[in-house]
Amino acid sequence: MTHSTITLNNGVELPSLGLGVLLSEGDEASTAVTTALRAGYRLVDTAAAYGNERLVGRGIREAEVDRAEVFVTTKLWMTDYGFDSALRGFDTSATKLGVDYVDLYLLHWPWPADFSRTIAAYRAAERLLEEGRVRAIGVANFLPEHLRALARETDVVPAVNQVELHPNFQQADQVAVHQELGIATQAWSPIGGVYGWAGGNGSVPPLQNETIGSIASSHGKTPAQVILRWHLDQGRSVVPKSVKPERIASNIDVFDFELTSDEARAIAALDTGQRGAVDPAIVTPEVIDLTIDPA
Ligand SMILES: NC(=O)c1ccc[n+]([C@@H]2O[C@H](COP(=O)([O-])OP(=O)(O)OC[C@H]3O[C@@H](n4cnc5c(N)ncnc54)[C@H](OP(=O)(O)O)[C@@H]3O)[C@@H](O)[C@H]2O)c1
Repeated sequence: MTHSTITLNNGVELPSLGLGVLLSEGDEASTAVTTALRAGYRLVDTAAAYGNERLVGRGIREAEVDRAEVFVTTKLWMTDYGFDSALRGFDTSATKLGVDYVDLYLLHWPWPADFSRTIAAYRAAERLLEEGRVRAIGVANFLPEHLRALARETDVVPAVNQVELHPNFQQADQVAVHQELGIATQAWSPIGGVYGWAGGNGSVPPLQNETIGSIASSHGKTPAQVILRWHLDQGRSVVPKSVKPERIASNIDVFDFELTSDEARAIAALDTGQRGAVDPAIVTPEVIDLTIDPA
């Protein structure tokens, strides 16, 4: 077996393990996608903000896997929040990807200081869902209060909330709210890649953690494989990023071993409660300053 799926709240099947492409650029980005699909991945996670939707689209086409078998996620950037601008943002993403429909469309961050614009963007996502241009809609980085505020003003419960989640930052309370609301949790930076691009926060990155290293040795697996297995055991979807063919292959080779309950407890004990990236409560387009190429 090279994959399993999670059934979303609208019945759509989300592959539990996919390829992330944040900071994947140029030919390396499209080759990574092709390599991953040929290795058995069926989910690719990109975003307008990653600037690589065209490369991802090329990688998907070059893999020559039936489009219906590939689950494509992309995300709307905050500068396109608002109803009409969100619809335009979606069209731009679909055009760059070269797809007729997107499997999962996410609002990339809440914009708490202008939440009405966030709501309008989500309303646009609901429209896209109605029109069949997306198969599921959701959010990323929404705190519980954002999920509850969204629920008060919109009709469709997000299928997914994609959040920072790795052994150092396990977010048990956030995950409990997802369970209560029927939202699937998808972990970003699942193996702790955030420490590479956001700078350290003083804690030891999960891939360098001794406890994880010793669990990995005892199974003849890598630390990344142990961490990914741990996520899957908890029913989460994960999108580890790599552009290296051997890592792409090994990151999905996690369906042939099991962690013991003692090992799972040892990983649970690594939680520091500290995020590696910015707190969603204070995010605005100025805090994460990015320009989306309009064409
Ligand atoms: N919604 C959001 O706001 C948000 C935010 C961040 C990320 N994401 C998504 O989540 C994905 C994953 O997060 P991430 O990219 O931050 O971090 P990640 O997947 O936890 O880690 C990626 C980093 O680990 C390295 N790596 C991959 N496999 C490895 C292995 N087996 N052994 C050692 N190192 C390995 C990669 O380098 P190489 O490429 O050189 O192998 C890269 O530097 C992103 O790509 C993106 O799709 C979403």
